[in-house]
Amino acid sequence: MTSNIAPNPPTDIAAVLLDGVRVARRGAVALAGLEPESYAREHAAFEGLSDQRSLIAEHLAGRLAAIGDRPVSVLSVGCGDGSLDARLAAGMVRDVPGRPVRYVGVDPWVGSAERFVATMAALGADELSSDAYVASFDDSSVGETFDVVMFVHSMYYVADLVSTLRVALGLLRPGGELWVAIAPTAALNALVGVLAPPLQGHRQWFSADVESAFVDAGISLEDVVTLDAQIDLSSASDEVLDFSVQARLTPDLRGPVRAYLDAVSVPGADGRPRVPHPVDVFAATRR
Ligand SMILES: C[S@@+](CC[C@H](N)C(=O)[O-])C[C@H]1O[C@@H](n2cnc3c(N)ncnc32)[C@H](O)[C@@H]1O
Repeated sequence: MTSNIAPNPPTDIAAVLLDGVRVARRGAVALAGLEPESYAREHAAFEGLSDQRSLIAEHLAGRLAAIGDRPVSVLSVGCGDGSLDARLAAGMVRDVPGRPVRYVGVDPWVGSAERFVATMAALGADELSSDAYVASFDDSSVGETFDVVMFVHSMYYVADLVSTLRVALGLLRPGGELWVAIAPTAALNALVGVLAPPLQGHRQWFSADVESAFVDAGISLEDVVTLDAQIDLSSASDEVLDFSVQARLTPDLRGPVRAYLDAVSVPGADGRPRVPHPVDVFAATRR
């Protein structure tokens, strides 16, 4: 007898596979986290497989353009190697020739802060002044105010979301804008929730946590925009896989993690499988 029952949709298969990973980890010692040097290297390789950075750059460039042609100052918290910031700074310099642009980065890892400074200097723009602080945002003593303070994929790691948002708002001039780009707990980050080790006593934060923190901090949101990016993890190296789940995977976990990523993939424009990889951008203005 033949059956007319259709196979489970991919989401059911993914849920079963995710449960399998969860069961494999139950009661186990936390996996190791990523060291700063390998984190930065694997992050760069991860971005190369995704269209997300271009979407963020385009989106933030549009917001920066809306500021007009007056002098502008930006603080990028968790600037990493400055690849994204240099793109934004170059756009501001190109779009309004001669307009002074101040661009400051904060990153706790010295290697990233040094690369940020070098990447900005390589733009060779006289009207661009840039500096970097080597510090966690909580410990940084940024002694100036800005037109824009942005956190692009760095809010996951701060110890206290509410106080971070308040301090960030305090670094803005009146009318200045706070932008936070952070992932929701979609398919990919469901794995992070299961596999990533805790950070200084807290799990990684995601969009929903940031949204609640804005409310708790008493800061009104101007808007929240979701950018629908995709990433091709089908041929990702083991190291990029580790970055994707924010943990150093043990060999026994790689197969189940790859099977789950395969199950949540959708066909990209070229027909190759892509993991949906959205990012939310929160925006608030200092009154
Ligand atoms: C995913 S990377 C994002 C880098 C960059 N914004 C980009 O989009 O390419 C996250 C960065 O946040 C930094 N970071 C981690 N904890 C931080 C903290 N408490 N304060 C500031 N930056 C932090 C990391 O060192 C890392 O460079």
